[in-house]
Amino acid sequence: LYGKERLNSSGINLADSDAQIHLKQALEIASKQLWHAAPIVDGHTLTGRVKTILNPADHTDVVGEVTLADSSAADKALQTAYQAAPEWGNTHASERAARLERAADLLEEQRAELMALIIREGGRTIHDALGEVREAIDFCRYYAAQARHHFVHPAILPGITGESNQLRLTGRGVFICISPWNFPVSIFTGQITAALAAGNSVIAKPAALTPLCGAYMVRLLHEAGVPKKVLHFITGSGSEIGMKLVSDARIAGVAFTGSNSTACQINQALTQGERILPFIAETGGQNGMIVDSSALPEQVVKDVITSAFNSAGQRCSALRVLFLQQEVSEQIIEMLSGAMDELLIGNPIHLSTDIGPIISLSACDELQRHCERMDREARLIKAIPLPQGSEQGSYFAPRIYEIERFSQLQHEVFGPILHIIRYQASYLNEVVDAINHSGYGLTLGIHSRINSIIDYITRHVRCGNTYVNRNMIGAVVGSQPFGGEGLSGTGPKAGGPHYLQRFATERVVTINT
Ligand code: NAD
Ligand code: ALA
Repeated sequence: LYGKERLNSSGINLADSDAQIHLKQALEIASKQLWHAAPIVDGHTLTGRVKTILNPADHTDVVGEVTLADSSAADKALQTAYQAAPEWGNTHASERAARLERAADLLEEQRAELMALIIREGGRTIHDALGEVREAIDFCRYYAAQARHHFVHPAILPGITGESNQLRLTGRGVFICISPWNFPVSIFTGQITAALAAGNSVIAKPAALTPLCGAYMVRLLHEAGVPKKVLHFITGSGSEIGMKLVSDARIAGVAFTGSNSTACQINQALTQGERILPFIAETGGQNGMIVDSSALPEQVVKDVITSAFNSAGQRCSALRVLFLQQEVSEQIIEMLSGAMDELLIGNPIHLSTDIGPIISLSACDELQRHCERMDREARLIKAIPLPQGSEQGSYFAPRIYEIERFSQLQHEVFGPILHIIRYQASYLNEVVDAINHSGYGLTLGIHSRINSIIDYITRHVRCGNTYVNRNMIGAVVGSQPFGGEGLSGTGPKAGGPHYLQRFATERVVTINT
């Protein structure tokens, strides 16, 4: 379960020419295809108002269309899911697990096609797309294993003579799963499979910008045997259809991944009326990395570049603020500047691309506004120019600013912008305080070879995932359960041994024999 019994997905050897040809063919086929997503309720595809989805790397490329769900589609999904929940909750947990394992097998078979869609709809690089499909496979198998482990047999608890006590984990009812665009397959799949494994029926709402990946996954899960009455797909905007779903009296819980401000809105909706519901919220970060003078500079530079600019900085886990000990700061800044010149920005369809597009033009505008403020308040250390042709898509030039205080950043900056702060070794406690003071607590990086420093930082920073002497992205299912605290979320760890319990309720049956 935690090691030998379950293996993480092996991925593809991208150096292998056969694998490259297969992937290239899949990308070519997918690039000609017009994809379609529509609400799927009780297995029926519904009609309605249609919106076009464009490729963020090339706005002349129409990837497909999404049919938006209306209020009556949401209502039908809620009613069907509500009626189906008891039967699914009473389905043997190993039966539920078997369907998720079948989904993992289908994902392995359809990996190249799905990667092609992720790249085209989500603007993700080939490496990122592969990482996403692997993580989705891992979520299916891990939660299946967890369901077999915790949900099949009740825990037998001690009792006085003549009395038996059993603790059972069981599904709660209808879970609403709401996901972001930046992991349109893995996070979407992770939430749904956890809810299903624990015995809930599910209404999945994808991000408005990436419904095609979501529709693909729902069809795949149905094909794997998840009953159509149990899993429904509702497209549309968060503020309208998302809000309608979370406000409905028939729901039993919400799993949400996205921004902190949306989490607050959902939280508020959940507290209306006479109900107390579980809210699994995994939100943004304002993540720091602390580098002291004992760190290995080459390794620091490699890990900073990966952590800050991979996925064009569009990861909740990405590095935003690099704290450099004064004595090594000049050398590391110079090395970082040089390393940035090596980054290849371009269409993610090419294997050599390091940095693809930003998800939308409005997201680019937001980054631009931040940089205009930084241009007034901070020192620009480096900006790399965009290549020719990038105006076809929503690209943004990666850059580094030096700032004086963490408090200059009030909100998460979701893109390829790194901020550097120099610190004096004797004021390490102030660095830790500044990180804690931000209120976020998602990821933290440390580069140090001094155990007492590592120990001090890890004991004092309030943070969900800390990475020492490596990069700070790409948590692995089953090995690095992922999730933050404070403004970064309500604490559950996706891909961890306690995650399914957050979707379940515990019941104790005491029998006096
Ligand atoms: P977002 O908050 O704008 O949207 C997330 C989802 O919520 C979407 O499906 C959206 O349609 C829906 N939504 C929006 N308003 C809603 C409302 N009022 N009621 C119900 N649903 C609503 O986030 P995003 O821009 O899609 O994603 C980026 C954010 O996600 C970043 O802040 C990033 O840090 C965070 N994120 C966190 C994690 C994590 O595991 N902690 C992982 C990935 C992304
Ligand atoms: N789980 C993702 C990462 O660790 C968000 O980068």
